[in-house]
Amino acid sequence: MAREFTRVGVVGLGTMGAGIVEVFARNGLDVTAVEISDAALERGRATLTSSTDRAVAKGKLAEADRDALMSRVDFRVGLDALHDVDLVIEAVPEHLDLKQRIFAELDRVCKPETILATNTSSLSVTEISVATTRPNQVIGIHFFNPAPVMKLVEVVRTVVTSAEVVADVEALCERLGKVDVTISDRAGFIANALLFGYLNHAVGMFEARYATREDIDAAMKLGCGLPMGPLALMDLIGLDTAYEILDTMYRRGGRDRRHAPAPLLKQMVTAGLLGRKSGRGFYTYERPGSPKVVPDEHTPVAADAALADGARAVAKVGVVGSGTMATGIIEVFAKAGYEIVSVTRGAEKSAKVCEAVKTSLNKGVVRGKLAEADRDAAMGRITWSATLEHLADVDLVVEAVVEELSVKKALFASLDEICKPGVVLATTTSSLPVIDVAMATQRPADVIGLHFFNPAPIMPLVEVVRTIRTSAETSATARAVCAAMGKTGVVCGDRSGFIVNALLFPYLNDAVKMLEASYSTADDIDYAMKLGCGYPMGPFELLDVVGLDVSLAIQRELYLELREPGFAPAPLLEHLVTAGYLGRKSGRGFRDHTNR
Ligand SMILES: NC(=O)c1ccc[n+]([C@@H]2O[C@H](COP(=O)([O-])OP(=O)(O)OC[C@H]3O[C@@H](n4cnc5c(N)ncnc54)[C@H](O)[C@@H]3O)[C@@H](O)[C@H]2O)c1
Repeated sequence: MAREFTRVGVVGLGTMGAGIVEVFARNGLDVTAVEISDAALERGRATLTSSTDRAVAKGKLAEADRDALMSRVDFRVGLDALHDVDLVIEAVPEHLDLKQRIFAELDRVCKPETILATNTSSLSVTEISVATTRPNQVIGIHFFNPAPVMKLVEVVRTVVTSAEVVADVEALCERLGKVDVTISDRAGFIANALLFGYLNHAVGMFEARYATREDIDAAMKLGCGLPMGPLALMDLIGLDTAYEILDTMYRRGGRDRRHAPAPLLKQMVTAGLLGRKSGRGFYTYERPGSPKVVPDEHTPVAADAALADGARAVAKVGVVGSGTMATGIIEVFAKAGYEIVSVTRGAEKSAKVCEAVKTSLNKGVVRGKLAEADRDAAMGRITWSATLEHLADVDLVVEAVVEELSVKKALFASLDEICKPGVVLATTTSSLPVIDVAMATQRPADVIGLHFFNPAPIMPLVEVVRTIRTSAETSATARAVCAAMGKTGVVCGDRSGFIVNALLFPYLNDAVKMLEASYSTADDIDYAMKLGCGYPMGPFELLDVVGLDVSLAIQRELYLELREPGFAPAPLLEHLVTAGYLGRKSGRGFRDHTNR
């Protein structure tokens, strides 16, 4: 029988503590909520009040339940108030000495049987536990932000935590409606170990002006389906907390350079830009604590104004290629009202692409998303050809042929001879340097990358890749075309992986390394990212969908270009590919798909 908890304590009512109080009180537990001063206590109370009021306003909580919830919370200053609780969870700032002091004090104040838990994200639970005389009753209970919303709790067991304490805490998590994964005491546990390298990398991209904050965030939201972009997430976490977590992970996690906090973070923390809680971080918020972003001096001017910025008129578009991407891109342009010349390597291929576009448009008609007349008009705008000469008068060419540099270079050299002056020449490459294809022409200023995502008609994102030779006019034209197609174009530099793949694949590779180190199972790692961070798929699910061979190739490219030791492909990934376990397409990858 698991222990019955009736009264619990929470120490520190900041970003996490206030949310944790809400979770407990909402589930019928009495809570003693402790802060360091009257002012901090009032702030914590206000956070809880506005969060529960929001839930009432959204119809997610009845008024009477809100009142009952608030009446279960006893707000107090000082740890002495915790003398009668059954379990305490500490959520004070991420500093080892502070947490050790608090645990020593809790050990003195609390009943001998009280379980002492920490919500630390990155510090050693073991080191915190030895500040008490009861390390076997010390455990990590790591909630995710926002605690009332995120389903996951990581339960961190040290080598001395007793089995009963672990079982009691697991049962408590269930009572709170959470899903728990129980793991051992390692820096960053599962989710943060996989998340923070990615977040820090995104900050580094922003700091290097590789892309704007809006574009980095839009890329990860729209390209990967994440609930928020990395910089918005940093603001939610709190930049001071994020800094401390990175710093600890760097020191505890093998001095991986990717965890060395980006210098900009330290500057922002020093300047008091802590994220949402202080009203300003990467973005500016309506007021401290508000989730609402308001415009500031970095907010981009409205799309229309930017597009007036020298964009050339585009009416007729050439698409070269006959694969999945070319087919999807033709459909997107046709639906957006452009006149299209499709060029393939022969009439047979053209007929296949034509069929595929028609089938896809028909699906839209069947689903009631496209009128029959619009389908016919879209098909009527496409001319099918097998000669590049037909591209002589187009305003934009989008190349989507095989991913081989020599083939693309030869094609761009031909386009250079054939196309009229002022044409924009775009490549959809996902891994080759755009500058290499640009230099195969005499007009590198007119060459740009337009990296569509698969399936092109559905995915809302296009990465607009500017080389060091691309003109402002060319990129303005590319952005205007993206907007006219109803896509979000994010502008980035010509570096391996652009934004999305550069941020996504090292994270997937890290997940493989974690599995390889036997820290956790593929199922628990997938759960952690889905339920703790709101990802639509866990890393192993995604790797099996993308294909392990494709993932390995992208990771190798990133490693070769950036020479970042942490980007070296995980040996397990290489072995699986060698063994022919490529994911869904081969029936087996990290999981067996033959019977599913
Ligand atoms: N922010 C996140 O997204 C997140 C997610 C999971 C876990 N965590 C972890 O939760 C813990 C708290 O982080 P946070 O982001 O909520 O920090 P925060 O800065 O928002 O809040 C910390 C609170 O602790 C209070 N405090 C400081 N000293 C105290 C003391 N001696 N007694 C009582 N209260 C005291 C402060 O007044 C403040 O209100 C950290 O260990 C952090 O790593 C944070």
